[in-house]
Amino acid sequence: MTKARVLLLCGGQSGEHEVSIASARSVLKAAGEQFSVSPVVISKSGKLLSLEDSQKALGQGSTENLSSSGTLQTLSNDAYDVVFPLLHGPNGEDGSIQGMLKLMGLKFVGSDILGSAVGMDKLMMKSVFAAHDLPQIPYKRVLRSEWLSSPEKVLASLEVLTFPLFVKPANLGSSVGISKARNEKELVEALNLAAQLDRRIIVEQGLEHPRELEVGVLGNDFPELSPVGEISFASDFYDYETKYTEGRADLVIPASIDASIAKECQELALKAFAAIDGAGLARVDFFFDEPSGKLYLNEINTMPGFTTTSMYPKLWEAAGVSYGELIVKLVNLALEAR
Ligand SMILES: Nc1ncnc2c1ncn2[C@@H]1O[C@H](COP(=O)(O)OP(=O)(O)O)[C@@H](O)[C@H]1O
Ligand SMILES: [Mg+2]
Repeated sequence: MTKARVLLLCGGQSGEHEVSIASARSVLKAAGEQFSVSPVVISKSGKLLSLEDSQKALGQGSTENLSSSGTLQTLSNDAYDVVFPLLHGPNGEDGSIQGMLKLMGLKFVGSDILGSAVGMDKLMMKSVFAAHDLPQIPYKRVLRSEWLSSPEKVLASLEVLTFPLFVKPANLGSSVGISKARNEKELVEALNLAAQLDRRIIVEQGLEHPRELEVGVLGNDFPELSPVGEISFASDFYDYETKYTEGRADLVIPASIDASIAKECQELALKAFAAIDGAGLARVDFFFDEPSGKLYLNEINTMPGFTTTSMYPKLWEAAGVSYGELIVKLVNLALEAR
């Protein structure tokens, strides 16, 4: 049997450019035997690198000093059986790349346009979850235009929520532009920051140091669920620095929680995945407020971090699925007719 030809797209224009390249290196190493893998790197400015420069970028871990451009032709021919868009954040995980691949008639790992777009946009995601009666923390939507034109009115509309508040751009991910506001002064600063980054903003009721639980989903219409993992860290919240600085956060798998809470996480993860029409893989994140015993759905990530030490592969490893086996399953799920 000939090996399936996999186009591995990585890099990209989001704050997770480097993580994506690191993930792709791991995938290339683990899947090089099973599949014929061609990595193609997208630079931070959105340029597609040539196959040759992509190899170099993977070797050095960045696109520094590399600029020979590939063309869309690199993608659009019959050279690949499946694409693994290992890209995070805007223009990677939000349905745009998925739309392009679909137009080109290519099969790909992960959610389709709709699931990717709904999973990426925090406001749309929350509306869809609400329509499915999934438990979420109260929040309000603020438009940049409203904030700039009538800040007093916006602040008044937020008085139904109590401090601390979390302010988030609707479409960024990796904690970029997210602030915890403890008073009105911080709220104003937080809204100013978020408004620089996005047209639409979420202001959410904050929990004080909730436990952060995560579940892996793997499959299409009848997905499997991983054990529950927990992220533990010392900082005030899981901000960009804590996420991407080596040694700042620990993964605990399985999370040390009651079996009933673990079961609830898995049930909710399944519902969240179906609600957005997820496919292939997703990591579903929760807040567990220990004092009240309440569990809240926080978000779904349709292309979670995928280095060998990332939560998603680690969750499956705990379930007996090795990193290499996980990639094989994902490629097969992408090839499966949906
Ligand atoms: N309502 C909240 N209460 C407490 N902490 C929160 C809340 N919202 C976000 N956080 C903290 O901010 C982090 C990032 O927020 P999240 O909504 O997951 O955005 P991202 O998509 O960037 O990961 C969370 O992991 C958590 O540490
Ligand atoms: Mg998150």
